[in-house]
Formats: sequence, C-alpha cells, structure tokens
Amino acid sequence: MARNRIYLCLAHMSEAGLEQKYVKEAFDTNWVVPLGPNVNGFEEDLENFVNENRNGNEKLSKRVVALSAGTAAVHLGLLDCGVGYGDEVIVQSFTFCASSHPITYLGATPVFVDSEKDSWNIDPDLLEEAIKDRIAKTGRKPKAIVPVALYGMPYQIDRIMEIADRYGIPVVEDAAEGFGSRWKGQVLGTFGKYGVLSFNGNKMITTSGGGALITEDEEQWRKIMWYATQAREAYPYYQHEAIGYNYRMSNICAGIGRGQMTVANDHIAHHKHVQALYEELLKDVPGIKVHGNPDSRYDSNYWLCTMTIDPEVRIKGQENAYKTIVTGAVGGAAGVIHVAESAHTDCEPNANVEALRMVLDAAQVEARPLWKPMHKQPVYKNAPAYLNGVSEALFKIGMCLPSGPYVSDDDVRYIVDCIKNAIVG
Ligand SMILES: Cc1ncc(COP(=O)(O)O)c(C=O)c1O
Repeated sequence: MARNRIYLCLAHMSEAGLEQKYVKEAFDTNWVVPLGPNVNGFEEDLENFVNENRNGNEKLSKRVVALSAGTAAVHLGLLDCGVGYGDEVIVQSFTFCASSHPITYLGATPVFVDSEKDSWNIDPDLLEEAIKDRIAKTGRKPKAIVPVALYGMPYQIDRIMEIADRYGIPVVEDAAEGFGSRWKGQVLGTFGKYGVLSFNGNKMITTSGGGALITEDEEQWRKIMWYATQAREAYPYYQHEAIGYNYRMSNICAGIGRGQMTVANDHIAHHKHVQALYEELLKDVPGIKVHGNPDSRYDSNYWLCTMTIDPEVRIKGQENAYKTIVTGAVGGAAGVIHVAESAHTDCEPNANVEALRMVLDAAQVEARPLWKPMHKQPVYKNAPAYLNGVSEALFKIGMCLPSGPYVSDDDVRYIVDCIKNAIVG
C-alpha cells in the first residue's frame, strides 16, 4: 500500500475542535473583521504563554499585538526602532528572507552577520565586529539588531543583549520559528525591545496565516496597535499624520489561534519527542549528525529537526543530482515561482544532500535544504556582510526533516530507514 506523504510540519488542529468553535462564534456574532473577542482572547493567551518564566524569576509583563503575518511583525518592530531610509540594520544572514526583507521595505540596508557553529545563530563576536566596523565606515550606528531562532534554536541572547545595550542599539528578536523556545527558561521574543512570532500554516501553532509582535509595555503596545491599524488621529473623519499599515489579525484567524493555544505545549512536546527519536536512531550513522541544543541554557522547540551530512557520505543517485531543472518549489509555495534558468547556482547544497532529498521525496518524505544564507542571495549581493564561513558551510551540508504533530514514531523510523538505505558508502 502506498504511504501517505510525510510533510515537514503541517497544521494540526486540537482534538477538541476548539478552533472551529471559536471561528463559529465569530460567524454567529458577526465579528468577521480584523478585531473582536477572538483577537483579544488570542492576545491574552499569548501574553500568558510568553510571560511564564521557568527560571524561578517573576512572571514577565509583556504585551502582545496579533498581526496578519510574522513579516508584518518584523516590519513594525523595525519601524518603531526608527529604521528609515538610508539606515542600516544588522541581521543574521542564516535565515528565511522575512527577517531581512522588511529592512528594505523601510528603505534601509541589511548588514548580514554570520553564525556561530554551535547554535547556527548570529555569532556575538562577529556582531560586535560588525557594529564597530559600520560605525567606523559610516559614522553612524546600525539602527537595530535582528537575531533569528533558526529552526527554533535559541541565539545567545545574554551576549547579544549585552553588546546591543553597550552600543545602545535595540534588538528585534525574530522568534518566528522559535515559538515557545527558551533561553535559560525564558521564552524567546521577550528579551529584546520587540519579539516576532509567526503563525503561518507550517509553524508550531497556526492561525492559517498570522503573526504577533511581543512588546515591552502598554505604551509600545499602543504604538504598534496604532501603526497596525492605519495610524489614525482622533477626529470624526480620517486624519493621517503618519503612514500606517493594515496589519491587524482577522477575528476569524484569531479564533483558530485561540484553539491552537490549548495544544501549543503538546505541539512543542511532540517536536521535542521527534527530535529525541531522530537523535537516538541516527546516532550511530557515520557522517550524519542531528543538530541539537548546544548546552542546557538552550531549549529549542525543534520546529524543524535538522541534520548535517558529511561531504564524504555517498548517496544513491548522487551522480544525478542537479541534472534537471526543478520546476516546482521545494518545500511548497503558495504563489507563483519563477522557472529557474539553470539547474545550478554558485552556492548550493552538496550533491549528496540533494540526492538524499530526492531519495526521500521519491519515498514520500518531504525534506528541505537549510535556508540559503541571505548574503549569498543575488538580491542582496550589494549588502555589507560580516562572515566566518559557518552559514555557507552549513547550507551545503544541512537538511530539514519532518517534525510536525502529524509525524509519528513510525514515520521517524521509516525516514531514518530511508536515510540509512540511501547511503552507499
Ligand atoms: C525566520 C522567520 N522570520 C519571519 C517569518 C515570517 O513569518 P510569516 O510567514 O508569518 O510572515 C518566518 C516564517 O515564515 C521565518 O521563518
């Protein structure tokens, strides 16, 4: 019998069907707008979630604004850091494009900083080097720093905050992939001036599409809320003295979010369980290494489990990797993608990684290369970058494996068997 395809991370609704209950309530009460009881309720749930400390310290008092996307959250966080035309913003290079694209929406330039080997996230030493060099070269400080919780893994936020505070630069934590990940017991997104969350369909919890910005206090919360609702002044007619955005979350989507919050901790526990199983089953496979928490300060949600494959490992069909032009988007795409002009670019995963992806694909397993570092993206070819080779090297040897709530123990065993059988030497 054909196996059902195993996806990286699919949306997974609560057994109790609470998402539908909240959505139905919205219809029944005609709150079919980008505000309402579900939006308020979801924000309250999120606040309770992010404010809970597991390090013995007091509960935090962060406020959360629900938005239409995580990308919108990055955009508004940067906007309120004062990022504008001609400014520079430091951002982790090893990330999805939504960490850096909003910098360009504001007319600013991203300055990419490479990763450290252990966490795969922004290297604090290189971060400081980049700050010093930008000040020397431009006479101005970067306007913000954007670390990213890659695949859920925490960044060294103690060191990042110490450096950022010393130079007086605000931090916008991109925890879009790190919902519920913790650094020393505290939830990511609650350390910097702002924290970004995403509830896209493939994330830890979903609202189909959506995001949130974690803010420090009531004042910031009000400001972000104002920007997210077209920045209106208090007049009986529409008076605009600043540019605002239509970025608020719909009350329908927020209904899904409220239901999802009842299973958020179960989802996180499941991802961690899947990670532990991969670690166990792949531990003796030569040349394969599952990426895990570097030490006890890190508590990744393991949004996607990731592994690296040594260049020496030979995979079945390796000689055929990159022989044909890919016609669809690997990892799925909601819209139109351009047809590639060539099967190669000047920076791509090793042939054995692509071969393994193809083997898994044929076995009905969705696997995906790691994010291609932004400093290697043609669209950013002129952006300044501070590099140590780590993200490019990882991109060439890394792969994401299915980890979502629908991935069963049996699936993990099957995936691991597929990987082992694909290795020919
Ligand atoms: C690192 C990172 N930042 C930002 C985003 C943007 O989130 P959204 O897709 O909700 O706009 C995503 C995910 O999609 C992401 O992976």
